[in-house]
Amino acid sequence: MKLKKIPVCMIGAGRIGFKLEFDKKRVKPASHFGMWIMNKRFSLKAIADKKNVELKYKKKISKNISFFKNFEKMINEKKPKIVSISTWKDTHYKITQKCIDLGIKVIILEKPLANNLAQAKKLIKNIKKNKVKVLVNHRRRYDDDIIRLKKKIKAGLIGEILQISSFYVYGLLTTGTHLIDTLRMLFVETCGEVHQVSGFKNNKKNFKPIDDQNLDGFIKFKNGLTATLQNLDMKSYDNFDIHIFGKKGKILISGIGREILFYKVVTSPEHSGFTELSSKFIRLNKSKPRLQFQKLSNNAYDCLIKKKKPLCSAYESYKDMVIIDKLIKSSNKGSRLLKVKF
Ligand SMILES: NC(=O)c1ccc[n+]([C@@H]2O[C@H](COP(=O)([O-])OP(=O)(O)OC[C@H]3O[C@@H](n4cnc5c(N)ncnc54)[C@H](O)[C@@H]3O)[C@@H](O)[C@H]2O)c1
Repeated sequence: MKLKKIPVCMIGAGRIGFKLEFDKKRVKPASHFGMWIMNKRFSLKAIADKKNVELKYKKKISKNISFFKNFEKMINEKKPKIVSISTWKDTHYKITQKCIDLGIKVIILEKPLANNLAQAKKLIKNIKKNKVKVLVNHRRRYDDDIIRLKKKIKAGLIGEILQISSFYVYGLLTTGTHLIDTLRMLFVETCGEVHQVSGFKNNKKNFKPIDDQNLDGFIKFKNGLTATLQNLDMKSYDNFDIHIFGKKGKILISGIGREILFYKVVTSPEHSGFTELSSKFIRLNKSKPRLQFQKLSNNAYDCLIKKKKPLCSAYESYKDMVIIDKLIKSSNKGSRLLKVKF
């Protein structure tokens, strides 16, 4: 028996929406377009972009997919069950609100949830009121290797966590939000929520979007664990390294999250009676990119059909935004340690 495919539409056909699907190096699906056309459960009915992308993209895709400049018109005509939004962050609030008003119950939204905390708060209220499931694309939440790592840390692979140092590029809200979300994903269950932060201005002129800022900072979890967040320059190189120091060893997440390396505690070759971290690592995974977009589209299916929960809900993403807001406020108040309340 042929299964009836679920009609879906997408809004925003820029880099992550469409173009990255044609990057030869990337594992596929690598975009919103790819996640819909490669998943047999769905039928991509239409793409909306306010720019005239139709002529440019038409040859690359099936004739059955229509193009719209106005996304509301697209939703009204095509009546999708799920919509994905891959526009720039300054539009997330308005477009998501409109999709909710138009009756969409499952939405995949690119990070960050909104452009600022005030927008995020209003959006969360509306999402709750209308019982909408919004899956925010913080991609490590859809990464099987990072999900496995969380379980290993919880089971005590490196013992009690002592310190975390972590790095990001290209703006606190734009990319730092991924780092904050990954830290919360990995440690909230064992260390409690983030409850204090301190933000510092970074004056290195590292590359960033014009509507964002680069900050360094500390975030403190409820049990006292501290993580540093430090900004690097994407024009020099991309980076998303997370160093996790535990009593029984260290884990380094490197290669933009691709590599998960474990450093054992060894006897010092130089000082009697001392131990140190081995300079050699053991790989905890295959160091290959994972099918995060595939897991994301399957999670959307489960949310719609099986009434499951998003792996990254709007509320999780909202909490990331509360932390970002406090980091900015702290940096404007001489880096004072500020309490975080959600
Ligand atoms: N999750 C990830 O790993 C990841 C990676 C890259 C980008 N992103 C996020 O994805 C979003 C998009 O980034 P990008 O680099 O693809 O941006 P982009 O500028 O390349 O693409 C955005 C597209 O949206 C279109 N658009 C804007 N407003 C619209 C509207 N009202 N209706 C229809 N189309 C509209 C634009 O014309 C453009 O084509 C950002 O929020 C970014 O932070 C996430």
